[in-house]
Amino acid sequence: MLLRDEGVVPALECRGLGKAYGAGRIVLAHLDFTLAPGEFVAIMGDSGVGKSTLLNLIAGLDSADSGDVIIDGSAVSRLDDNAATRLRRQKLGFVFQAFHVLPHLTLAQNVALPLLLNELPTAGALDMLAAVGLSGRGDDFPRQLSGGELQRVAIARALVHRPKLILADEPTGNLDPDTAHEVLGLFRTQSKATGAATIMVTHSEAAAAVADRILILSDGGLHASSGRTAFSGSPPDARSAARSADDAR
Ligand SMILES: Nc1ncnc2c1ncn2[C@@H]1O[C@H](COP(=O)(O)OP(=O)(O)O)[C@@H](O)[C@H]1O
Ligand SMILES: [Mg+2]
Repeated sequence: MLLRDEGVVPALECRGLGKAYGAGRIVLAHLDFTLAPGEFVAIMGDSGVGKSTLLNLIAGLDSADSGDVIIDGSAVSRLDDNAATRLRRQKLGFVFQAFHVLPHLTLAQNVALPLLLNELPTAGALDMLAAVGLSGRGDDFPRQLSGGELQRVAIARALVHRPKLILADEPTGNLDPDTAHEVLGLFRTQSKATGAATIMVTHSEAAAAVADRILILSDGGLHASSGRTAFSGSPPDARSAARSADDAR
C-alpha cells in the first residue's frame, strides 16, 4: 500500500474482517479498508447490510470472527481487554444519531468527559465548545438546547481529546435538512482542524457529499461508489440536495 511506502501510518486499517451471525448469516466477508490520517469517508449501503456492525467491530463493541482492526498502527484486535480499552479511549471519538449527551451534566462537563477519562486537563473543553459555535454556553444544560446544538456538543465531545479516528453513525439522522447542512459543514471543518480521520455512516446523499470519498457496503465488502460525487474542494450545496433527498423519503 502506498501509505506504508510513504511512511505514513494509516488512521485505520481493516484486514480481512469477517463477521457472521448464526449459521450462514454472513454480514462481513474478508473486508479490507484503509483510511488515511485526516481523511473523511462516507459509508452508504442498504439497511441491514452491516454498516453498524462494521462500526461496532472498529469500536470494539462487538468482535470479529476473523481479521484485524488496526487503529493508528496498533492491532486492537490482538491487545488484551485493558490495553484495547485504553487505546480506544485515547484514539477514538464517537458521534451518534441520538446525540447521547448526558442530561444531568452541563455542556462543559459533557465535553470534558473524554479528557477526564484520559486524565488530561479539562481546560480545553470550553475552547472546543467555542469551536462548534457554543461559546459562553458551558454552564447550560442539554435540556436548553435544540437538536442541532446537541449534535454540536456531541461533535465537540468526540473531538476534544484529539482522537485519530471519529466514528459517526447517521450523525444527521435526527436533524432537519437546514440544520443537518450546518452541522455537517461544522463536523467536516472541525474533523479536519483537529486532524482526525472520520468514518460517517449515512443514508443521505447530501450528507455523503461532504466526504472526501464515498464507499458502498454491499455483499460483505466496501466498494467505491460510482455515480455519486464526493467533496471536491468547494463547499457542497448540501442544503437543496438534503431537501430533495428528504422529499424523496
Ligand atoms: N447481535 C446480532 N445478532 C444477530 N443478528 C444481528 C445482530 N446485529 C446485527 N445483526 C444482523 O446483521 C445484519 C446487519 O445489521 P446492521 O449492521 O445493523 O446493518 P445496518 O447498520 O447496515 O442497517 C442485519 O441482518 C442484522 O439483522
Ligand atoms: Mg445501522
